[in-house]
Amino acid sequence: MTPDDAPIRFAILGAARIATKVGKAIQDANGAELSVIASRELSKAETWKQHHGARLAVEGYEEALRQPDIDAVYIPLPPSLHKEWTIKSAEAGKHVLCEKPTAMDAHEAREMLAVCKANGVQFMDGTMWPHTPRSQQMSQVLNHGTLGELRRVVSAFSIQMPDTPDQHRYIPELGGGALYDIGWYCVRASLWAFADVPTHVYASATYHRGVDNNATAILWFSDNRVASFDCGYDLTRRKWMEVVGESGNLVCDDFLSPWDIEKQRFWVHDQDGIATEIQSPSVVQEMCMVESFVQIIRSKELSEYWPQVSLDNQRVIDALMVSARTGNREEVK
Ligand SMILES: NC(=O)c1ccc[n+]([C@@H]2O[C@H](COP(=O)([O-])OP(=O)(O)OC[C@H]3O[C@@H](n4cnc5c(N)ncnc54)[C@H](OP(=O)(O)O)[C@@H]3O)[C@@H](O)[C@H]2O)c1
Repeated sequence: MTPDDAPIRFAILGAARIATKVGKAIQDANGAELSVIASRELSKAETWKQHHGARLAVEGYEEALRQPDIDAVYIPLPPSLHKEWTIKSAEAGKHVLCEKPTAMDAHEAREMLAVCKANGVQFMDGTMWPHTPRSQQMSQVLNHGTLGELRRVVSAFSIQMPDTPDQHRYIPELGGGALYDIGWYCVRASLWAFADVPTHVYASATYHRGVDNNATAILWFSDNRVASFDCGYDLTRRKWMEVVGESGNLVCDDFLSPWDIEKQRFWVHDQDGIATEIQSPSVVQEMCMVESFVQIIRSKELSEYWPQVSLDNQRVIDALMVSARTGNREEVK
């Protein structure tokens, strides 16, 4: 094995629920290795290590960054902590895979990305679905032209989110709220399908415990292209997307994670309602994301796309959150 083939060694900062899935993906992915699990409490890190495997369990996120054999970190902390730990990790020379939303706002996100760039480390947010073969197949359909000019994206993500005192999604200071948390994915679907950023947005939301728990949004792009979505913590589970062209449409009823890992598919409908089902490989999307991140690090050519799309996603979320409060159509800054 040459040094270039050596696995990228990860530390996970925080024994979060999502760290269980991504930790397994790091262990299973080509070119990655799970070295360290860090928690605010050593006992929690040790328990996590016993159940999910890691070479070392440490107390405190700083301690993980002090480990000389760590190349990259995965940050599954509440959004309010993303900026601090991305910056500390980048300054310690570690590549950063940070959960979404990138930050509390685009101002913070810009600062994080600047520090990553200055330290020569890759930044990527934890949005998984764009890294799958199915997303690549859907992109090919959208770019092929069979649907005609793309004019609409309609998407939805809703779930029942238990209202427990320790759930960071209901705590404003930790970055709670449905737009940040799950509207994020619908915004990404819109940016991805149009390969563009909207100029203006509008959102209407209801609030619970000081955070938006349900929102409906409109995103206006140039050339009369419009995206709309709804997201919420108080509805049945939905995770679908439709991209509409002048002469056909693409439908995916589980774009952000397949209902059935063995049946990863989407449909293309023509003007007469004839639907073609397109099958995609059965993959674990967490692994696709980790492998995509690792490939960039190993190539030694940092990607500008992933930091930029993460920032753009955050800019749109910022404008939606302002609009939901003011009731006005807001510019994306
Ligand atoms: N990409 C995806 O598909 C996906 C899916 C789910 C969640 N997420 C994102 O991942 C992040 C974590 O979500 P989660 O549901 O896994 O969170 P979680 O289970 O609540 O875990 C968050 C972790 O952050 C650490 N932490 C540090 N300070 C904290 C504080 N003041 N309050 C609460 N926790 C604190 C804790 O780890 P220690 O106690 O061990 O230090 C805790 O276990 C969020 O940004 C979320 O949006 C992404």
